[in-house]
Amino acid sequence: MSLSGTTNRYGSLAQAFHWLTALLVLIAFLVSEGGPPTRVYSEARASTLLLHESLGFTVFWLLVLRLIWRLFDRVPDAPPMPAWMDVASKVTHWALYALLFAVPATAMLGAWFGGHPVTVYGFGAIGPFFGPWDAGASLADIHGTLGDIILWLAGLHAAAAIFHHVFLRDRVLSQMLPGSLVQRGEMPGRQ
Ligand code: HEM
Ligand code: HEM
Repeated sequence: MSLSGTTNRYGSLAQAFHWLTALLVLIAFLVSEGGPPTRVYSEARASTLLLHESLGFTVFWLLVLRLIWRLFDRVPDAPPMPAWMDVASKVTHWALYALLFAVPATAMLGAWFGGHPVTVYGFGAIGPFFGPWDAGASLADIHGTLGDIILWLAGLHAAAAIFHHVFLRDRVLSQMLPGSLVQRGEMPGRQ
């Protein structure tokens, strides 16, 4: 299977970025903890926070690499579908990209503005470089809300992909799956 995409399939690198990101977002969400800063930044929660922040930060730099690769890659053409559906799918994809940026960005800025360090990959405390400012708590709240929204939107997006596969019987889902899962190349009968 090719690293780059074709007119009717995502390449293996774009697929790897997609599925790894989806997995990391899901785990980061599952290990996220809220509550007052005394709880979030307590010694007892340090390892969970380290895991959450490391996974979330990985999502951030994977997004950067993925978007750079997307500039050079061949993104598949949309299979035949009504114009509104094509627009809805593109709007959803760019909203997901925006959230993949905004969720980690609000987290890091929220922590630093709030006067807290960020901990990733066991490098120890990074920052804060400024603050503490009141905006820190608001950004941390916005981060939690955007973290919920990305999960809901990704769920809707996944449901749409399954709807395309089962009811519209087009290649929307199979073009994002490894070749071995889709009988080498396109699935029979799918446009
Ligand atoms: C895609 C990645 C991420 C997702 C889906 C996510 C999701 C969430 C959610 C849903 C909460 C709220 C939990 C609750 O209120 O019960 C939360 C809290 C938090 N997240 Fe993330 N997060 C991500 C990335 C990050 C990153 C990169 C950092 C820091 C480097 C981070 C730091 C925090 C902190 C410090 C809190 C607690 C906020 C507070 O209430 O003070 N998160 N996260
Ligand atoms: C946090 C989870 C997820 C995120 C952030 C996410 C994000 C994205 C983004 C940004 C794209 C656009 C790719 C591009 O053209 O550059 C995309 C495409 C796609 N995603 Fe996801 N996704 C997630 C989970 C899922 C799941 C669970 C499924 C399937 C069950 C799925 C199925 C697809 C498919 C089939 C495409 C190609 C759609 C098309 O070309 O029209 N995604 N995803």
